[in-house]
Amino acid sequence: MSNSSIDKASVVNRYLPSRLVSREYADAFAPSNIALCKYWGKRDAELNLPVNSSLSISLAHLGSHTNISHSETGLDKVRLNNKDLSLDSNFSRKVIAFVDLFRRGQKIPLIVDTRNNIPTAAGLASSASGFAALVLALDDFFSLKLENSVLSAFARMGSGSASRSIYSGFVRWDMGSQSDGMDSVASQLDNRWPNLRIGLIKVSSVQKPVDSRSGMNRTIETSKLYPSWPEQAGSDLITLEQAIADRDFARMGACAEKNAMSMHATMMSAWPPLVYWLPESLAVMHKVWQLREAGVAVYFTMDAGPNLKLLFEACSLSVLETEFVSMEVIQPFSD
Ligand code: PMV
Repeated sequence: MSNSSIDKASVVNRYLPSRLVSREYADAFAPSNIALCKYWGKRDAELNLPVNSSLSISLAHLGSHTNISHSETGLDKVRLNNKDLSLDSNFSRKVIAFVDLFRRGQKIPLIVDTRNNIPTAAGLASSASGFAALVLALDDFFSLKLENSVLSAFARMGSGSASRSIYSGFVRWDMGSQSDGMDSVASQLDNRWPNLRIGLIKVSSVQKPVDSRSGMNRTIETSKLYPSWPEQAGSDLITLEQAIADRDFARMGACAEKNAMSMHATMMSAWPPLVYWLPESLAVMHKVWQLREAGVAVYFTMDAGPNLKLLFEACSLSVLETEFVSMEVIQPFSD
């Protein structure tokens, strides 16, 4: 990981008018996303520039709604899921620091109200949809009319995976090579897959002990396996795009599962080891493998946490609902 000589504020500043004009109110939605080829490792920590390109699937109507309006009290207010937060909370600080990239010292006190409709039981992170919705709401509130690629780059500065949440469906985030990161942006693939389903299996809701940012850093710094990761991610991305274009479910599922397992292998070989799995996570994996042996086309993927996301097609729904009774099912192409 290199330290960038370019800071976020100077990149954002290039796309803003000298004086912001604001509307009364703006409201935006962005979906959550699940990576089939993971983003794991930064080459630039300030701008969240990745070591590898990645590919995800957005979760349709599940994500974050963000609403921005003027605050009449003269102070910023941050709300999350219908509750006012202290301005000292982690969430408020992140939101305000991000909004400040746009305000650049102009006194425009705001109310930023975020509501996540991701099922609380699903064990999904909301930072990707949260930052993407915030960028979309800021674009509207300040009538910036920025291109999607710029919105994706700005969302990436909040949280890497947020670059992909600007779009629905299958989304590829190109790693890019420019030092200002403006070519490290996501774009939507044309392909749709109406029968595709994602099953969320929550094995724990306890907050993970090591967040993705620290996990990536520790892995890059200490894992001897990490150097093999960028090459593997590069070839997985090609396989996944081809499998999606051919609607070859077995190829796509196998590649996504292998990609997730390889990412976890780099984490486990870090020091101190990073093992996000719980015994229950492994039990679900074994069940998936047994079901596959028995002819059910089901694969899984996992992020930096113990919960699993099953990948399957609509024809396998009833058998999987019987096997995994608490599974939450998402139709990513339901819109
Ligand atoms: O965007 P972040 O910093 O929360 O990192 C996300 C990392 C993974 O979820 C493990 C992989 C991915 O591509 O979403």
